[in-house]
Amino acid sequence: MKIMTVVGARPNFMKAAPVVFAIHDHNSGVATQSPDDASGIIKHVLVHTGQHYDEALSGSFFLDLGLPRPDVHLEVGSGSHAVQTAEIMRRFEEVLLAEKPDVVVVFGDVNSTVACALVASKIALDASGTRPLIAHIEAGLRSFDASMPEEINRVITDHLSDLLFITEESGIQNLCREGIAPEKIHFVGNTMIDSLLASVEKAEKSAVLDRFGLRSSSDASPGNIRRYALLTLHRPSNVDKQKTFLNILEGLEELASSYPILFSAHPRTRKRIAEFGLERFFRASSEAGIRLLDPLGYLDFLCLMKHAALVVTDSGGIQEETTCLGVPCVTVRENTERPVTVTSGTNIIAGTSQEKIRRAVKEQLSQRKQARSPEKWDGKAAGRIVEAIVREFAQRKIDL
Ligand code: UD1
Ligand code: UDP
Repeated sequence: MKIMTVVGARPNFMKAAPVVFAIHDHNSGVATQSPDDASGIIKHVLVHTGQHYDEALSGSFFLDLGLPRPDVHLEVGSGSHAVQTAEIMRRFEEVLLAEKPDVVVVFGDVNSTVACALVASKIALDASGTRPLIAHIEAGLRSFDASMPEEINRVITDHLSDLLFITEESGIQNLCREGIAPEKIHFVGNTMIDSLLASVEKAEKSAVLDRFGLRSSSDASPGNIRRYALLTLHRPSNVDKQKTFLNILEGLEELASSYPILFSAHPRTRKRIAEFGLERFFRASSEAGIRLLDPLGYLDFLCLMKHAALVVTDSGGIQEETTCLGVPCVTVRENTERPVTVTSGTNIIAGTSQEKIRRAVKEQLSQRKQARSPEKWDGKAAGRIVEAIVREFAQRKIDL
């Protein structure tokens, strides 16, 4: 069997790494059990679309996660939604025709996800019109907000997929409501959390706390770490609208007057800060204020998340990671596609009005939070996924 795994943008890499490792584990198992029979070995091809291309948004993650170099790089780069999606589709079709994989695995909700699923759904790899099976990892999430580009990508990808691997129970109801056959849905857990659990010890060795003056000596005890908050913003609905972006920054001024806030700024966000003239918000001292930073590497960011008093974000993945780490999270959005982070996690959906942000920050800082593990967020999701793919592939061969 040949599996092709597709990555393209920052949140894909941590979701994909455990799957790549689980395929290696599967192959080691096969080689040990039947050394003279290679028929159970999975051939694996890693494709990077190039949707993200900066070292800080792509290359550094391969290093931090121990991912192998991509076998194929499509180098599409940035563009409008239509241009980027179309360019990925055009280039990915050639790769599919050359490689003829049995299974295409896509992750999450970015443009690379929907583009490659769409190509795989209509391709004919032989005279009888065979197409690869499509496996969607992190299927079933819904914000019910169609103005979010990711929501469109999620819905379309789910409806094109043969195997839908869901991270939380809400996915089952969402998919069934949309008429997806229950036998396609597999509740396996969360591969982003597989990566977190596999990396958290390594992340503790990061020097990032010292680099930002958050620890006064080499004493690593938690008591020696200054209280600080961590901020990320990159959703177009927040940073592309001047009024909303301004509201969020003003809503955080009170927090910034007593805490250092480390702001990992996505390139989209940086551009808007310059365009809207928002530089005045970033006057950090060692005691307080918002400190504007370039995007951080995975291990550094994980270390900062783990020790933060509070995380404020509009990221999807960070809502899940903070739940798992037991770190209070304020999500500056009107909705979440990850309700389990609220119902059994550490997350509050604050919206983007100044008053609501202030209130949510206060509430989160006044409560003690505990690390939570929603069902099946146990570090073993990728193993379950590879098992299910192998099973499905074998069943289809028998049915032919
Ligand atoms: C994309 C995803 C979003 C995800 C985010 C993660 C879609 C529709 N959006 O949004 O779901 O949460 O990635 O970070 O797929 N840029 C660079 N360097 C890069 C990449 C981008 O400077 O390596 C700049 C370019 O100016 C580009 C802009 O960032 O136009 C936006 O990039 P794009 O990939 O279109 O969307 P993201 O906002 O990154
Ligand atoms: N992340 C990172 N460095 C940063 C900001 C985020 O490594 O400076 C990681 C974060 O820990 C999580 C992932 O990037 O694993 C989330 O990606 P992002 O917020 O870009 O996308 P989303 O989850 O919103 O789609």
